Amino acid sequence: MPTATQSSSSTAPTTSKLMMADPPPEFLTLQEIVITARRNLSPEVWDYIVGGSDTETTVKRNRNALDRLAFRPRVLRNVENIDCGGCLLGKDLRLPVLLAPIGSLQDLESGGGVTVTKASAEFGTAHMLSSVCKPGLEAVAAAADNPKIFQLYVRGDADWVDDHVRRAIANGYFAFCLTVDLDHYGRRERDILKRHMSTSRQTAAHEEFQERLSWDDVKRIKDKFDIPLILKGIATAEDARLAIEHGVEGIYVSNHGGRQLDCGRGTIDVLPEVVAEVDGRAEIIVDGGFMRGTDIVKAMILGADVVGIGRLQGFGAAAGGVRGVVRVLELLETEIKITLALLGVTGYDKLDAGYLKATDAVVEPHALSAFPLLDEGY
Ligand code: FNR
Repeated sequence: MPTATQSSSSTAPTTSKLMMADPPPEFLTLQEIVITARRNLSPEVWDYIVGGSDTETTVKRNRNALDRLAFRPRVLRNVENIDCGGCLLGKDLRLPVLLAPIGSLQDLESGGGVTVTKASAEFGTAHMLSSVCKPGLEAVAAAADNPKIFQLYVRGDADWVDDHVRRAIANGYFAFCLTVDLDHYGRRERDILKRHMSTSRQTAAHEEFQERLSWDDVKRIKDKFDIPLILKGIATAEDARLAIEHGVEGIYVSNHGGRQLDCGRGTIDVLPEVVAEVDGRAEIIVDGGFMRGTDIVKAMILGADVVGIGRLQGFGAAAGGVRGVVRVLELLETEIKITLALLGVTGYDKLDAGYLKATDAVVEPHALSAFPLLDEGY
């Protein structure tokens, strides 16, 4: 039986304890979605999505840092009407959840960025489209009327970057994002071992421009364009301060899901110092290992405005296309609502650090440790 992080595509579906139809009439738990995604994907693509860089310590720290936070719930309060909604840069969202940029979505499900953007529209939350995701900026913009952000990997000179900002504005993206934690592509050893390259890696070119990226580029974009700018991959209070000094509107705390710098901190551990430094002067997004409603509530308690989901979104797409991603969001909403009710509050604004307590993690962390049934052979 494969371990949780291994593909089970060689395992006959009939041995599954769940005996799910293909595809299931409706996913009732997030675990079913992950199990179905694993069944639908080749071992190569499964490892591409699950894997991290080098020792995968950063991947594990993302989960471990979340697992080390326990709740201190309050009881006997009226929680009949709970508001799970969120807001990002003036856009109201059904949940404070962002569909994070995923390159090569088309390797997981043929619709690629169109599938995720349609799910974002159907559910009512924001989608950040990756510049290395097909079918591209214009086609994804045309596919649905939803809050969209464009995320760029810099693979050209200033004119090339500026052209992307102009196209994002012209196509209705409400914010622009530079990913800044990819000066060099991380060594994802699962991919290297399997000699696997995602479609976006196969066509990657001119990565020297990403290596040369500096605060001067941030200044140029801010000086030239009237669109909120987000920097994705901020991991210290020092860089959050520089971002604020450059007029950046969105600070995206991320370690790229543990796929870039190895031996980094879990992002929920990074969040408090960034929140303190920013002090309300920009909006804060965080991602990295957020797989459950409880994880999202923990981030909201610690001061995030919105939480990004990467792999979980990919599992939804691989398990059931648009419907699969919508189900991921619906199930997160259910989990968040239950968590808020059991904490004794009707909204995130009623929460503070007193609802959390540092404790020991009870599970061995890995990319999928939020889904323990996978370890039990489902
Ligand atoms: C990513 N991520 C990413 N980030 C980015 O800025 N541009 C991109 O094109 C991609 N592509 C990508 C592909 C795949 C398969 C994964 C898993 C991740 C990182 C992503 O936006 C996000 O930061 C992490 O995925 C968050 O961690 P979780 O939610 O996957 O644990």
